[in-house]
Amino acid sequence: MPFYQLNIPEVYRDWTFLERFPGHEELRKYIAHVDKILDLRRDTYFHARVNDASWDKSANRWTIKTQQGHVASAKYLILGAGLLHRANIPDFPGLSGYQGEVFHSAAWNEDFSAKGKKVAIIGAGSTGVQLTESLGKMADELTVFVRRPSYCCALGQRSLTAYEQHVMKRFYPVMLKAARESHAGFPVTGNDKALDDVSSEERERHWSYTWDQGGFSYGMLAYKDLFRSKEANEATYQYWRSKVATRLIDPAKFEIMAPEHKPYYFLTKRMPLEQDYYEVLNQSNVHIHDLNKSSLKSFTKKGLLMSNGTEYEFDAVVLATGFDSITGSITRIGVKNKHGVDLKDVWADGITTYMGITVSGFPNMFVPYSPQAPTPFTNAIPIIEAQVELAVDIITRVERAGAKSIEATRDAEIEWKTHLNALVEGTLFPYTDSWWNGADVPGKKKEMMAYIAGIKHYEAKCRANIEGLQGFNMVARDKV
Ligand SMILES: NC(=O)c1ccc[n+]([C@@H]2O[C@H](COP(=O)([O-])OP(=O)(O)OC[C@H]3O[C@@H](n4cnc5c(N)ncnc54)[C@H](OP(=O)(O)O)[C@@H]3O)[C@@H](O)[C@H]2O)c1
Repeated sequence: MPFYQLNIPEVYRDWTFLERFPGHEELRKYIAHVDKILDLRRDTYFHARVNDASWDKSANRWTIKTQQGHVASAKYLILGAGLLHRANIPDFPGLSGYQGEVFHSAAWNEDFSAKGKKVAIIGAGSTGVQLTESLGKMADELTVFVRRPSYCCALGQRSLTAYEQHVMKRFYPVMLKAARESHAGFPVTGNDKALDDVSSEERERHWSYTWDQGGFSYGMLAYKDLFRSKEANEATYQYWRSKVATRLIDPAKFEIMAPEHKPYYFLTKRMPLEQDYYEVLNQSNVHIHDLNKSSLKSFTKKGLLMSNGTEYEFDAVVLATGFDSITGSITRIGVKNKHGVDLKDVWADGITTYMGITVSGFPNMFVPYSPQAPTPFTNAIPIIEAQVELAVDIITRVERAGAKSIEATRDAEIEWKTHLNALVEGTLFPYTDSWWNGADVPGKKKEMMAYIAGIKHYEAKCRANIEGLQGFNMVARDKV
């Protein structure tokens, strides 16, 4: 709060949040409020799983079908299927024979109680961190299976009063505009200094200040060479490690979660935000199993068998193993290009989009909040708002021209990908496997899926291309 909310005055005018980082129950109430104000329900089919979308060349329209039997026809198709939706469930041997309770975090069993139970969590990404905080307080015994630890920063949670929001709302138009015109969707200007530009005393002061702000401040205000200089990255990691050392006091656990030699470069994988993660890990009922020392061999009827012969018994195992991110949803809804080829096959050898908004061969289709845009590197709302406005801008131009359809050219896509890759060149991102480059899902092609130059730069570049419809082919209406 206030930056992770829709920039729609009718929506924020009558809404008050309780916390800086609202919990899921409050977020659901907020979404219900959005629905009420904008009357979205009127235009929505619930429980409708799209399994086919095809372009009808003669009618110049999309036909969209669902598993439940809906059929819709539309001139424009917008795929808003999200980027962290399709669960990644590794092919663990013996999983189906396990007799305890097992579920992925994305299919949470609302009736599940960890009270009095021995519970395992596989995974230590953002979800694993949040689950550890909660389940560690409830379970008799909790064991967390960690392959690579997360480098977490403090959430900096606090309550918000209605009065302070009442006052702040006057400034929302300016604040939310500033967020949109920023790098990461939060109105901070970043750091224009490199690590070596400043003395060691100034570094300490700066790190301490950004650390104390909580949230993503430590990362967003890191020295500008964080992603290009191994030394700057290492120094930023070591300061982070010194902070964790004051909280995770069990030395063996500390060495797994904040090792002296970092397993990957700082912030080249999403940094989770935590509240009392390290305190919970200190608890005597919470155990950490380092998968690098002995890997998971198989599930057994009662638990997990490790490669060193250790066998654990658990009442429940929670898979916090992440998602087939970014492309996982839109490649599984049966959307086909104008030649009848499924998007998943079009992208079999790598993703191609134009500006992360359109895909060549898919006329009048838009893919906001998906690959090759700043999507995973930014606060979600401003990038969604930016991309939706860009799509609407393109649609408006088509309608004004009275045209049938618009489609990105293949050349424009290649140029976009070349530009995206050039931005990543020389950075530390390619060294780390993550959901940002797909290397975390077995069999998925590893490629940077995000546009790393930030929203402001991205939007300016897209607007320049859309002005004059550079990189698009528009099909005019038939002459009569
Ligand atoms: N508080 C927050 O900020 C928050 C909370 C929840 C979600 N989110 C958002 O949701 C995103 C996804 O988070 P997530 O935690 O669900 O997914 P994630 O970040 O991709 O983490 C998946 C975890 O599962 C582990 N894993 C995957 N396959 C495994 C295997 N075969 N054996 C052992 N471990 C395995 C990974 O280990 P490796 O790291 O070694 O691959 C990683 O620790 C976050 O990055 C964030 O954008 C944010």
